[in-house]
Amino acid sequence: MPYNLLKGKRGIIFGALDENSIAWKTAETVHAEGGKFVLTNAPIAMRMGSINNLAEKTGSKIIPADATSVEDLENLVEKAVEILGGKIDFVLHSIGMSVNVRKGNHYTDMNYDFTTKGWDVSAVSFHKTMQVLYKKDAMAEWGSIIALSYMAAQRVFPDYNDMADNKAYLESIARSFGYFFGKDKKVRVNTISQSPTPTTAGQGVKGFDGFISFAEKMSPLGNATAQECANYTVTLFSDLTRKVTLQNLYHDGGFSNTGVSQEVMEAFIKHEE
Ligand code: NAI
Repeated sequence: MPYNLLKGKRGIIFGALDENSIAWKTAETVHAEGGKFVLTNAPIAMRMGSINNLAEKTGSKIIPADATSVEDLENLVEKAVEILGGKIDFVLHSIGMSVNVRKGNHYTDMNYDFTTKGWDVSAVSFHKTMQVLYKKDAMAEWGSIIALSYMAAQRVFPDYNDMADNKAYLESIARSFGYFFGKDKKVRVNTISQSPTPTTAGQGVKGFDGFISFAEKMSPLGNATAQECANYTVTLFSDLTRKVTLQNLYHDGGFSNTGVSQEVMEAFIKHEE
């Protein structure tokens, strides 16, 4: 049920690859809430995915950009302001990739060129995006910038590999840049730490099926879905959350504060025959 929370607002949405993507659901939900936006993804992802369908559905333009290229980001921001007819109110950074994960390299046997590529795509791209927006003075006052993270930034999940480090880096960038964006431009910057979600990036993590079932059983409210993440993001883009900034916000059905649940205990309790 739309509430028109984003009526008249303009934005940029990174990372919609296919209809499972969190960014895809977010774009649909932002559209339903009255927001206008441009969609962007890496040129190679555009060929693989189905972003054109999303653009059509939401009446949006697509501007390709490799989020590790400052030049591409400059072009993106200039065009977005031009197409949307004014400064940007909201940005979703929904980008993550580890080459070590893709190639199956264990955390104790990394290829550091891959490590570097991974943090550039997954974390530094967020800094680059914000720096371009900041320098071009492209964000409207009381705008909102969000990136998506995962709790492996705080706690060990062995198979999350170097993405854990990338997420820690990402969350730190949100705080550090958020300070300057808040002081200088009245813009808020936060990360949402989302439950495991069955998407292309999610399923790339080794043992994902076990992992998502475990999280489901541990979380008092169950895992948060991609659609629920989209709904939460809309609230953070809206004017109702203007003073929320520099936060890493858990959107995980309570997983992060649960020590153990009854369902998980059941697997370890020896029942009398
Ligand atoms: P997804 O695979 O649908 O989205 C990842 C996106 O990153 C893709 O659209 C891909 O094209 C884009 N991307 C990769 N390299 C890029 C580059 N150089 N430039 C621009 N875009 C690039 O998967 P999902 O799950 O929707 O991922 C979105 C975000 O949510 C990521 O940051 C991910 O780490 C995060 N997240 C995902 C969770 C999950 O279990 N799926 C849990 C918590 C966070």
